[in-house]
Amino acid sequence: RTARFTLDPAFTVGRVNPRLFGSFVEHLGRCVYTGIHEPGHPAADAEGLRTDVLDLVRELGVTAIRYPGGNFVSGYRWEDSVGPVEDRPRRLDLAWHSTETNRFGLSEYIAFLKKVGPQAEPMMAVNLGTRGVAEALELQEYANHPAGTALSDLRAAHGDKEPFGIRLWCLGNEMDGPWQTGHKTAAEYGRVAAETARAMRQQDPSVELVVCGSSSQAMPTFAEWEATVLEETYELVDYISLHAYYEPVDGDVDSFLASAVDMESFIENVVATADHVGAKLKSKKRINLSFDEWNVWYLSRWEEYAKTLDQSDWPEAPRLLEDNYSVTDAVVFGSLLIALLRHADRVTVACLAQLVNVIAPIMTEPGGPAWRQTTFFPFAQASRYGRGQVLDVRVDSPTYETKKYGETDLLHATAVRADDGTVTVFAVNRSRTEPLPLDVTLNGLELTSVIEHSALADADPDARNTLADPDRVTPHPVEGTALTDGTLTAVLEPLSWNVIRLA
Ligand code: AHR
Repeated sequence: RTARFTLDPAFTVGRVNPRLFGSFVEHLGRCVYTGIHEPGHPAADAEGLRTDVLDLVRELGVTAIRYPGGNFVSGYRWEDSVGPVEDRPRRLDLAWHSTETNRFGLSEYIAFLKKVGPQAEPMMAVNLGTRGVAEALELQEYANHPAGTALSDLRAAHGDKEPFGIRLWCLGNEMDGPWQTGHKTAAEYGRVAAETARAMRQQDPSVELVVCGSSSQAMPTFAEWEATVLEETYELVDYISLHAYYEPVDGDVDSFLASAVDMESFIENVVATADHVGAKLKSKKRINLSFDEWNVWYLSRWEEYAKTLDQSDWPEAPRLLEDNYSVTDAVVFGSLLIALLRHADRVTVACLAQLVNVIAPIMTEPGGPAWRQTTFFPFAQASRYGRGQVLDVRVDSPTYETKKYGETDLLHATAVRADDGTVTVFAVNRSRTEPLPLDVTLNGLELTSVIEHSALADADPDARNTLADPDRVTPHPVEGTALTDGTLTAVLEPLSWNVIRLA
């Protein structure tokens, strides 16, 4: 059976905020050290930043880059990460059982963003695990105050005369998680987040603040956490965060392919909860969503591995969470991107966790090359072509049965209309065995031709890119896709991510 939908410019979801294509650099494993920063590497610049990685980061098209954690931020002492590198202390990082050398810190992060280019924006987290209001204010003063105070002058003395101008701030990380250093109940966190937000705004009214929501929809405190935290912070923050990672459970690939069903319901449930609190508080304000950690992550594999780690060892930049992504993973990943775009009216910030080496689209070898994982391609294409108005796509699709989500559409799709009138359809075929014919009716869109149909699919769904074979998987052009008399017809290969551009 054929899957179908209609596109009409009169029916839109909302405009894509460029921040939807954010990413995340955490002091975790080799994301920073030997990832983006490796002095002495043949491709390193004078600041020790790997230019081969910078090139790939630009090609990926990331915008907001969240830093420095993640779980790491709950032990973060910002003052350790500034000033002369040789004076910076080595610290124990409890989150990842590593030694943090602080050779890369706040100033280096800002320098990295500048080198990525003007599309890159800082998104800084403050530590609300082991620290509180005072340290958040100090960090903000150091980063954002122009001059003439102890901490802004210290920044200048450290060589950064110009303030960093950080607008977007996260009020801690995953404070609902028992694994978080300084974990809190919703009431405890809501209070400290509210007071931190109030003080940060007093010091710099231009900041935009993200309060922590749940670490996943499966958390036992989900929804109650959001409601409690927002009742304390509603008028003081701009966004509530969502985090979600997906993996196949017990080999159930069909449910894994439908992971976006969970992501979309998570988004809709958080919107409902936030709007409920707004209604209760009789507020005119609307809280948006910052989906600031999302990805495919073989988390259970990591949890098993973590149990075997030698607790007396505190290595520097160990190999952690270096998942190698298959074609199947990339198709799920593309579907997660579609889920974000389908909710672009409320999800106005999103960060792919993470950027380099750690559950990342970009991999590196110390002293060696950098390469693209399979997940690199859907992200780069979505960031490049997913800018403009998201059109409201309601699919009529054949379905399949999944253990976790019941009857699920085989087609998952969205479409974005750019300001120049071109339209890009992003579509996933979740069938592992069957091609999926697709018909799209175009109403009121002056489109006459197919610019390209690109697909990521492979006869081997387990194919991946590796150090030995870095270009094994890349998107390929699809023949036969046509636009005739206002109808687009295409065939989506089994288990495929598709980008169809129309002009
Ligand atoms: O991205 C890896 C980790 O996942 C982050 O540090 C944490 O916030 C989440 O649990």
